[in-house]
Amino acid sequence: MTRRPASTRSPTPEARISWCSCSSGPASTRRRRPSPAMRGDAELTVGLLGAGMIAGVHARAYRHCPGVRLVAVADPVPGKAGRIAGEHGAKVVPDLDALLDLGVDVVDVCTPPTAHADATIAALRAGRHVLCEKPITRTMDEARRVLAAAEAAPGLLSIGQVARYGPDHRLARDLAVSGDIGLVRMVSHSTTTSLPGWSEAGWLADATTSGGPLLDQGVHGFDYARWVIGSPAVRVHCMAAGSGAGEPTYTLATVRYENGSIAHVECSWAHPASRGFKLRAEIVGTEGRLSWDYDHMMGGVLHAREGGAEWWDVLGDREFVLELGAFFAACRDGGPPPVPAAEAVESLRTALAALESARTGKTIDLTTWELG
Ligand SMILES: NC(=O)c1ccc[n+]([C@@H]2O[C@H](COP(=O)([O-])OP(=O)(O)OC[C@H]3O[C@@H](n4cnc5c(N)ncnc54)[C@H](O)[C@@H]3O)[C@@H](O)[C@H]2O)c1
Repeated sequence: MTRRPASTRSPTPEARISWCSCSSGPASTRRRRPSPAMRGDAELTVGLLGAGMIAGVHARAYRHCPGVRLVAVADPVPGKAGRIAGEHGAKVVPDLDALLDLGVDVVDVCTPPTAHADATIAALRAGRHVLCEKPITRTMDEARRVLAAAEAAPGLLSIGQVARYGPDHRLARDLAVSGDIGLVRMVSHSTTTSLPGWSEAGWLADATTSGGPLLDQGVHGFDYARWVIGSPAVRVHCMAAGSGAGEPTYTLATVRYENGSIAHVECSWAHPASRGFKLRAEIVGTEGRLSWDYDHMMGGVLHAREGGAEWWDVLGDREFVLELGAFFAACRDGGPPPVPAAEAVESLRTALAALESARTGKTIDLTTWELG
């Protein structure tokens, strides 16, 4: 793989993207039937719910998706929707109901996870296609409600498990699945950084909303490992330690899969901010090994004489462009969703079980475990 020079410096928090990280009112009655398959070049209109960090990344990605138009943005915090709407020629509306009233084809849910279920269900019931950011929901009860709504709805629901669209992650998975390293036996996925500072009212630091790094970041690792291994997770064990950033903010989880393969998922918000976001991944098979890391591939750093370090990212928002492009193509083709809700629920369940293991010290048997 050739290494590209760092061409763009990304000094804003939005551009230093890292994987970590509704009250929409009553379910809308504005039910509409999306055409199951639209013309390949039909325009898709999008309403963006939430105008925080990841919403900005999505809005920039739409620009690279032909025939996609951001129509309106809603966020309860004054001024936030206006910033994104102004940049992309869209309107500001107060809430999800107002987005639905505009007749958008797609609702893109970019709120904190505790607001995902109500918003996703309302938009699906209104007959829209929905892209919902990861994790699909904060709890299993909410996830079951979303699954039921998705099964009953005419529109598509896909979940933003964006690791599947990282060019490096996808290439490695394609090589693994095509047998280049034999039978996959082990996946190791590590994401380490400091506590992300951008979230609205600090929701990422509140484990009841975010689940901490093990859910917020770890759901990417659990989802990716399951996707590569191609077999359901059956057991998970996790150990965690606290740090100045909270409890637990450093986590090590091991997962056993039905086919006998294993995964190791490491997450941290306990690392020094000056080090930036780091990722290490490895897939080991009976005939070889694939590995990559962002110490070498992604990171550039500027150390100012006065002040701290500023990281930039040569992969940029590419994975989001690919993720959203695949979703819009599926909307036009009438499905299937690129990341089905049922797969995202499995990834959520593994992460929640890992949290339970960290809390109790017990190994969780996922073949029998039930949680609300
Ligand atoms: N795929 C990734 O790598 C990645 C990276 C970061 C965040 N995320 C996910 O994206 C989601 C948003 O995270 P973020 O980092 O953008 O957070 P953020 O705090 O920057 O933005 C969330 C926004 O949602 C708004 N909001 C809250 N409730 C709302 C509601 N009911 N209706 C409309 N807006 C509402 C908030 O005011 C805030 O502006 C989370 O689910 C997070 O896990 C994914």
